[in-house]
Amino acid sequence: MPQPLCSAHANASDGTRTRHDLSVATAACAALSAGVSVNMRTMRVYLVGGAVRDRLLGLPVRERDWVVVGTTAEELVRLGYEPVGREFPVFLHPVTHEEYALARQERKVGPGYRGFTTQFAPTVTLEEDLRRRDLTINAMAEDENGALIDPYGGKADLAARRLRHVSEAFVEDPVRILRVARFAARFAGLGFRVADETLALMRRIVAAGEARTLVPERIWQETERALAEAHPQVFFETLRACGALTVIFPEINALFGVPQPPRWHPEIDTGVHVMLALTYAAARAAPVAVRFAVLTHDLGKAQTPRADWPSHHRHEEFGVPLIEDLCERLKVPNSHRELAILAARQHTLVHRALELKPATVLTLLEKCDAFRRPERFAELLLACEADARGRTGREDAPYPQVAYLGQALDAAAAVTLSESERRGLEGAEIGEEIRRRRLAAVAAVKARATPEAAP
Ligand code: CTP
Repeated sequence: MPQPLCSAHANASDGTRTRHDLSVATAACAALSAGVSVNMRTMRVYLVGGAVRDRLLGLPVRERDWVVVGTTAEELVRLGYEPVGREFPVFLHPVTHEEYALARQERKVGPGYRGFTTQFAPTVTLEEDLRRRDLTINAMAEDENGALIDPYGGKADLAARRLRHVSEAFVEDPVRILRVARFAARFAGLGFRVADETLALMRRIVAAGEARTLVPERIWQETERALAEAHPQVFFETLRACGALTVIFPEINALFGVPQPPRWHPEIDTGVHVMLALTYAAARAAPVAVRFAVLTHDLGKAQTPRADWPSHHRHEEFGVPLIEDLCERLKVPNSHRELAILAARQHTLVHRALELKPATVLTLLEKCDAFRRPERFAELLLACEADARGRTGREDAPYPQVAYLGQALDAAAAVTLSESERRGLEGAEIGEEIRRRRLAAVAAVKARATPEAAP
């Protein structure tokens, strides 16, 4: 039985309702009391998508999306909803500002993720709306009494830890390749896997050339979110498994099959190494910029002529234009690009930090702009640590370079010249004197860290 809308509102005000407390009912009552006539007989509201999924998984609900069945856009506007959808009829609730979408069906009419016509008549049912959705675990709804509506087996798939498409219509939207890979990255820790039949559909989308229609902004948007997930490497592995990696990230795909020296890289394969390094960075809760730098730090290794394998002379510098192209193509933020280029250029030198002469350490700090940007330098060190430990069997190996370079920076940055010491020095001489003292400070750190190397 549909609940009388104003009683839902009354319940909301005494605090007894938890879920639909501030839904359409609130707005309807406001409209009615303002004398607006409302045809509420058939209008129903359902909680849908991620909120239902996450509640069933026992995870915190970040955002609630609602679907409204049996009404029109005009009616929602009369109720005070603010239309915001450019392509679909989506509205913001006048009080909660949560998103309410009219139930809709979609039909593919052209290539790409914009190639749709949408039907959103009041006759579209909840089941029809759920059917156009990507995964069964995202295609469940809850009615105003909290009852689950699950026509496509989402709950069973949650229990089976299965990411499975709802219907064949899945293939109509190439963004879903990215979304499934992202959900796989998010839920890998809970044991979720992409269902074989869904992976087969993802392969079909790629084989039909649809992955090429993905716009750069959308690729980066999904990638950035995936990088922030608990298991970002699964995003790239899933894209690789369906053949999309070579289309979307050819420079990362090219790393698979490129060998490295087993002495330094027991995992041998460069692609495998980068995935291990990304796993480590995520386990350390590294910021997204660091994860991106880890992802791209070895791109230059795919440029090495086969005859030179498994060594990769000058891969650091060869990687830089590849990172620049990738960032240009996907419109990656400048801050991410800068850290990625720094990591590509400097990671080998950072690994060798304890062998370097104090002058080389100081030059490294200067090249990294570490005095002015110590936080970014710390991010660079974390990326290098992920590179060093993202190797089979090296996950717990000591990496004293981080502490050593951190101490070198602190000591050099603490150097000052008092007023009296500046007296008698002119212009460039002040800078030279500071540098001389910084060098002495770094040398003292080195002597403490590696006493055996002292003269
Ligand atoms: N959806 C879809 N296909 C898309 C985009 C969205 O089927 N290309 C559907 C899914 O049912 C999804 C809902 O729209 O659950 C809301 O999308 P969104 O807010 O992007 O995802 P959530 O599932 O809420 O996930 P998140 O937790 O990442 O917000």
